[in-house]
Amino acid sequence: MRKKLIAANWKMHKTAEQARAFISAFLPEVREHTRDEIVLCPPFTAIHAVAEALGDSGIGTGGQDLFWEQKGAYTGAISAQMLCAAGCSHVLVGHSERRQYFGETDDTVNRKLKAALHGGLKPILCVGEVIQEREAGRTKEVLRRQCSIAFREVSSDQAISLIVAYEPIWAIGTGRTATPELAGEAHYTIRAEAAGAFGKGVAEQMRILYGGSVKPENATLLMSHPDIDGALVGGASLEPKSFTAIVKY
Ligand code: PGA
Repeated sequence: MRKKLIAANWKMHKTAEQARAFISAFLPEVREHTRDEIVLCPPFTAIHAVAEALGDSGIGTGGQDLFWEQKGAYTGAISAQMLCAAGCSHVLVGHSERRQYFGETDDTVNRKLKAALHGGLKPILCVGEVIQEREAGRTKEVLRRQCSIAFREVSSDQAISLIVAYEPIWAIGTGRTATPELAGEAHYTIRAEAAGAFGKGVAEQMRILYGGSVKPENATLLMSHPDIDGALVGGASLEPKSFTAIVKY
């Protein structure tokens, strides 16, 4: 059985102070919750505050992005080592908003994924198709391409700490959700690609999350699908009440 992972992606929301206020309300609600793993991904400037406030609660802290070099003249960039030192255990890699607004390509996603693994972080690799690709029947092809390039030069040993999030872009922040069946099909494709790259054993252990308008109202339905191993939650993770409801689906 794969333990489900529920991750909050706060995107460009919350100062350190606002993040602390969230945790004061959220932590007492989930202290006893051991069924699922929980990770919060704040913006860089709140990482330290979040990691400190979470303390030994068992809840992980994740970065939302990283650069692939370890150090150097790269103004504005943050390395895996810096994320670890600030208290991160996880990092999002290749989120569709990074691909859309910041020019990330399958190749840069691969570099970042390798840097995260090399730096001891657990990457949450985001993949997913745009609506035109889905309507043209190209979803599988897109997922296969995104995964196969992201997985390049990653060993089976390293892949043990890899998490994938399937996020159909047409479902992100739109209120439209993939049905559990559609997500399940996509997860099957991703797992098959992982099996090809890392072997069946590693692929069977790999958590594949669903992301895209996950809300308290649809979490139970999505999470009860056997191939959906958790959720990456944007909008509904910003309020302690709605994120608690999702965690406790
Ligand atoms: P959403 O975002 O839950 O607001 O759709 C999900 C994501 O982008 O990770």
